[in-house]
Amino acid sequence: MSKQTQVYDKEIVFAGLAVFLIIVTFPFWYNLVLGKAASAPVPELTKEAKAAKTCVLPAAEMKSEHMRILDVWRHSVVRQVKRVYTTPDGRDFEMSLTNSCLECHYNKTEFCDKCHTYASVDPYCWDCHIDNPKEIK
Ligand code: HEC
Ligand code: HEC
Ligand code: HEC
Repeated sequence: MSKQTQVYDKEIVFAGLAVFLIIVTFPFWYNLVLGKAASAPVPELTKEAKAAKTCVLPAAEMKSEHMRILDVWRHSVVRQVKRVYTTPDGRDFEMSLTNSCLECHYNKTEFCDKCHTYASVDPYCWDCHIDNPKEIK
């Protein structure tokens, strides 16, 4: 192999490497350029949820507290046989994973799962509770 072709090969290797690095790091600098943090998932609202406008509690609270709320609901239903939750602003909800949460958020895949997959949590609730009450695909 002549020196000439060796240099040529090196150039190809470096060009290839550069292209590879650009592709691999694309999500990072793309977000940097657009000034966004590494993209967190955006859970989709069903049209029923949109029509309802608000969740059981304000969205920020739901975001951080929904696991504890579900725990309190379960406890209340199973231990205290109390099935109705009244919000601080006076709305009543049946304390039910399937009949309340999934009544509005029946697009579990595009809502609950979208965050859970991102956060690597896999709630085992669906071993027993129906996760698709409206039988959507
Ligand atoms: C009456 C319909 C309705 C019910 C019932 C309902 N939600 Fe919501 N939920 C909404 C709406 C509407 C929003 C968006 C509110 C907003 O953006 O202000 C929301 C937002 C949320 C969020 C925050 C999403 C985000 O983007 O940060 C979580 C988490 C959530 N709901 C979980 C639940 C759970 C768990 C239950 C049952 C305990 C439940 N929801 C019951 C309508 C509902
Ligand atoms: C905005 C993002 C987001 C949405 C939307 C969301 N979750 Fe979560 N959920 C999380 C995160 C993050 C955790 C883990 C929190 C932790 O470990 O403290 C979690 C944890 C949970 C847990 C506890 C799991 C465990 O093993 O501890 C349950 C139960 C749960 N979510 C139910 C739901 C249900 C039902 C819905 C849809 C109605 C939903 N979540 C929608 C982000 C979300
Ligand atoms: C081994 C089966 C099983 C698993 C797993 C399970 N549950 Fe339940 N859950 C039940 C049974 C049975 C009831 C009682 C049903 C009733 O009285 O309506 C119940 C009731 C509830 C209730 C109140 C009633 C209702 O309709 O929702 C909530 C809320 C609840 N569970 C939340 C959860 C959450 C959140 C998880 C996951 C973190 C979970 N459950 C996992 C079996 C299970």
